[in-house]
Amino acid sequence: MEGEDTVIRRDRFADGPARSFMSSLAADERIFAADLAVDRAHVVMLTEQGIIGDDEAADVLAALDDVEAAGHSTLPDGEDVHEAIESAVVDRVGPNGGKMHTARSRNDEVAACIRYRFRADLLSAVEATLALREALLEAATAEAETVMPGFTHRQYAQPTTAGHFLASYAGALERDTARLLDAYDRTNGSPLGGAAFAGTPFDIDRERTADLLGFDGVVENSTDASSARDFLAESCAALATLATTLSGLSTDLIEHAADGYLVLSDDYSSTSSIMPQKKNPDTLELVRAVAGDATGSLTALLTTLKGLPRAYNRDLQRATPHAWDAVDSVTEATEVAAGAVATAEWDAEACEADAGAGFSTATGVADALAMTGVPFRTAHELVAAAAAETESPADTSAANAAASGGSRAALAANLDAAAEEVLGEPLATYVSREELDAVLDPVGSVAARDSRGAPAPDALAESLARLAESHDGHAAALAERDAALESAADDLETAVSEYV
Ligand code: ARG
Repeated sequence: MEGEDTVIRRDRFADGPARSFMSSLAADERIFAADLAVDRAHVVMLTEQGIIGDDEAADVLAALDDVEAAGHSTLPDGEDVHEAIESAVVDRVGPNGGKMHTARSRNDEVAACIRYRFRADLLSAVEATLALREALLEAATAEAETVMPGFTHRQYAQPTTAGHFLASYAGALERDTARLLDAYDRTNGSPLGGAAFAGTPFDIDRERTADLLGFDGVVENSTDASSARDFLAESCAALATLATTLSGLSTDLIEHAADGYLVLSDDYSSTSSIMPQKKNPDTLELVRAVAGDATGSLTALLTTLKGLPRAYNRDLQRATPHAWDAVDSVTEATEVAAGAVATAEWDAEACEADAGAGFSTATGVADALAMTGVPFRTAHELVAAAAAETESPADTSAANAAASGGSRAALAANLDAAAEEVLGEPLATYVSREELDAVLDPVGSVAARDSRGAPAPDALAESLARLAESHDGHAAALAERDAALESAADDLETAVSEYV
């Protein structure tokens, strides 16, 4: 008997000292449901093709329901979930249960299971990015006119708005979502029917199993079908890139909280076990650290895949969990970041108080001069000389007071002197004192920068509208994929119900 033969042959390999080292059964819990779906679709297709009989299909499909109800933890010991489920089916229906494995191999089977499960995980990650984008867009809209310091090299650079800062991350997240959706589309192909690597003589219908499982098509070449894990690599690269975006956002929010520009909700903070006055941004620090996890997973995955020959090699078994780790940690971090952004309260007064610190409006003076025809480089040097001459108090609030009050006059005087020296005429010949005051004022400075994508509230409003539109487009893309998977699951259920 074929079934008994299989059991005997396997027993020969079952009990060595490396048995648990070789087994992926525990980790395979993640693909338990996927394997049941793959088994069902395969059995339906085999039956429709006349490869196995209707009654045999009915027995196997009923046994699969029973195995599902019993759960992963009740599976017989085995090398992996595929072998264990097959044994559990054979235990229930006898040797004919072994017909389930006709015209396939664990090689195409495991690849199908990973793709089937991982695509759902990718959609959860996409959903998390959308939630974070919503939180960012909402906060950006609320803080569109909250003028604050903008930094480069962690130095006061130019005044911006909290809304523009937040929208900058909505822009980055838009690409993160797009990368995940792209990765999803290449993940969602069916390797099933590739068999071990070289196809099968049975008259199978690969498109049918692909349809029943909600795959968008088949991975054409049977060797490529069992071997390929580049879908995991590109997905993990997209996840690591997303995690890197999150890490930057975390650092910015941590620093802005330290500077008093925003207050994190208590739900996203922690305190010190010894310093009772402290409120620490622990959640954001943990979100930031996930970039390390994700990059580690990507590196581990690529290092495992590097140099693997065609077709199936057992190394692949150790590659898979890195992808689960990456998608779990990055999705959770994205959800937490969304909550932290949504619940943070911006302190508009504190933001505005520092907005002009460090003569950060100086670029506006150079711009105003250059608009009169003075070469920008000349204007830049002139303003630099004046700023260097003007004392800039070290502490932030004093610096800001200086920019907006007393030493703005000193700066104006020094600009005058510099203009005389460089251009041979007083500054007022080029830029009136009124204009000067307007560009030195942080609010005026922001309002002046109204080019596309810039922080001026009008320009920002247009950008936010574009970002909202692209958010909705990606939400529709997600809904479309979710619906396709749901309808395929329904089709599979209907197809199975023809037999049981
Ligand atoms: N547990 C294996 C994995 O995760 C399944 C495939 C095993 N195939 C084989 N020919 N040994 O990759």
